[in-house]
Amino acid sequence: MNIDWELLRKEAINASKKAYAPYSNFPVGAAGLVSDGRIVSGCNIENASYGLTLCAECSMISNLLMSGGGKLIAVVCVDGKGELLSPCGRCRQLLFEHGGNELQLLTPSGPQDMSVILPWGFGPDDLEKKK
Ligand code: THU
Repeated sequence: MNIDWELLRKEAINASKKAYAPYSNFPVGAAGLVSDGRIVSGCNIENASYGLTLCAECSMISNLLMSGGGKLIAVVCVDGKGELLSPCGRCRQLLFEHGGNELQLLTPSGPQDMSVILPWGFGPDDLEKKK
């Protein structure tokens, strides 16, 4: 599938503008291309109980499921300046669950496979092996 990275980045920037980040003042946006061609996005949503903050990737994956599911093919995450953002460890795990090793993440050195972003990740296949 053709990946329009510029469009994904624009969608991530649009999503970052919806962020609820009154505590960190660090808005984040994420946008992903889905296997059926649609684009899903999300923003970070903070909480007065700081540790309950939802990352932008988490919000994007809620959007993925609520809009019909599917597999993530490509993802872009940005900060409030529109600069590429490195997903936190927890979000790498969330992205791996819904995109697998083949998911492409845009990094400052170009698109990278999820297998590079989260090497030897624990995922659904590992649970299958135990059955
Ligand atoms: N944040 C994300 O939304 N995604 C990440 O991968 C890293 C961090 C958010 C959480 C918090 O609202 C703000 O960035 C500062 O940590």
